[in-house]
Amino acid sequence: MPEHLTIVDHPLVQHKLTLMRDKGTSTAGFRQLLREISHLLAYEVTRELKMTTRNIETPLTELDAPVLAGKKLALISILRAGNGLLDGILDLIPSARVGFVGLYRDEETLQPVQYYFKVPEGLEDRLVIAVDPMLATGNSSVAAIDLLKKAGAKDIRFLCLLASPEGVAKMKEAHPDVPIVTASLDQKLNEKGYIVPGLGDAGDRMFGTK
Ligand code: URA
Repeated sequence: MPEHLTIVDHPLVQHKLTLMRDKGTSTAGFRQLLREISHLLAYEVTRELKMTTRNIETPLTELDAPVLAGKKLALISILRAGNGLLDGILDLIPSARVGFVGLYRDEETLQPVQYYFKVPEGLEDRLVIAVDPMLATGNSSVAAIDLLKKAGAKDIRFLCLLASPEGVAKMKEAHPDVPIVTASLDQKLNEKGYIVPGLGDAGDRMFGTK
């Protein structure tokens, strides 16, 4: 995947994203849309997976047919909102290995602090897809990728629903080798670090916590 930033402009993605942005969309509707849109984003982020062939017999003949090569890929959810994207991607790639990274923001230093980290073994031999719906300031995304690299990951992609210009710039500076796939590059961050126009707090909207 050569581009640092890929914006998935497929009509279905853009339509579903508009419904998700609408503050009148219910929690159940938001969750369902996120699941649907994650299928379409997963299609894009896995476009260049390595392939090999397996010899099979159809009812009519023998065939060297294409199958995915290498170790099962690893999906890493950046808690908690990452879980919304994770569920949909697992619908498409049910055998993927799954990890979780939990980070919170220290209110004094404003830096992300790790509170949970559990990832599959052998990250160095897997394609690793880190998922978080919102690439906002980029602080937690950069920290999560730092941790994944420390754990051995070498081939990493970052999948989000919305990205801010500030977040993309921060990721590009810290991790130029990590391509980003998103449904939209929004206008800006506001003073509270929310993406504008955005969709609000992705975790609250998907879990109904506000
Ligand atoms: N996290 C969110 O959930 N929403 C934003 O707009 C920014 C960060």
